[in-house]
Amino acid sequence: MPCGGHVMVARFLSANDFLFSKSAMVDTPENAVVVCDLEKRFGAFVAVNRVSFSVRRGEIFGFLGPNGAGKSTTIRMLCGILRPTSGSGMVGGLDIRTQSEEIKARIGYMSQKFSLYQDLTVEENIDFYSGIYRLSGEERRKRKEWVLGMAGLSEHRKRLTSVLSGGWKQRLALGCAIVHQPPIVFLDEPTSGVDPLSRRRF
Ligand SMILES: Nc1ncnc2c1ncn2[C@@H]1O[C@H](COP(=O)(O)OP(=O)(O)O)[C@@H](O)[C@H]1O
Ligand SMILES: [Mg+2]
Repeated sequence: MPCGGHVMVARFLSANDFLFSKSAMVDTPENAVVVCDLEKRFGAFVAVNRVSFSVRRGEIFGFLGPNGAGKSTTIRMLCGILRPTSGSGMVGGLDIRTQSEEIKARIGYMSQKFSLYQDLTVEENIDFYSGIYRLSGEERRKRKEWVLGMAGLSEHRKRLTSVLSGGWKQRLALGCAIVHQPPIVFLDEPTSGVDPLSRRRF
């Protein structure tokens, strides 16, 4: 994260966890994510400035920081989409440098930028993601109904994604990101554009 920018990491398990030490940053089965001195430069520009943290299994962990602080860039490195300039990271016991393809199959990622195909219907988007994650026919049907129910979109399944409100699109995108029931989920600003009631449901 750029020098001068303020990024906080918030962990929501217990207040005692807020402070953490480097000694906790080891890859153990209890840790879902372990990051050490992770850095990303775009040319001379430092987008992520040697970040270190760990996230335990079952823990909900959040980044707080202003626009441009490097939150999305950090998430994209953890998802195996972007190669770090230096530092290391393990996600679900897999190395973000050398096992990015395995990581992609095992996580859910809801990107900040829109990840749905606007010219597909609601259920076609769900089918598309089920296909990417190679769900079997029976599983596909079950998980589609689950996503439609979770997102409150059962009645709108035949509608084009482009005509959905922003909040519905976010809920559909969340459903698509977790259609394969991944053990680890990365959500990048999932509730932007979502009304307060739906936000609570998220
Ligand atoms: N592909 C890229 N090339 C150059 N600069 C980038 C690229 N991606 C992000 N940045 C820059 O890195 C910084 C961090 O961006 P980002 O991770 O999107 O921040 P955040 O998600 O916290 O708002 C920003 O200044 C952004 O312009
Ligand atoms: Mg961002």
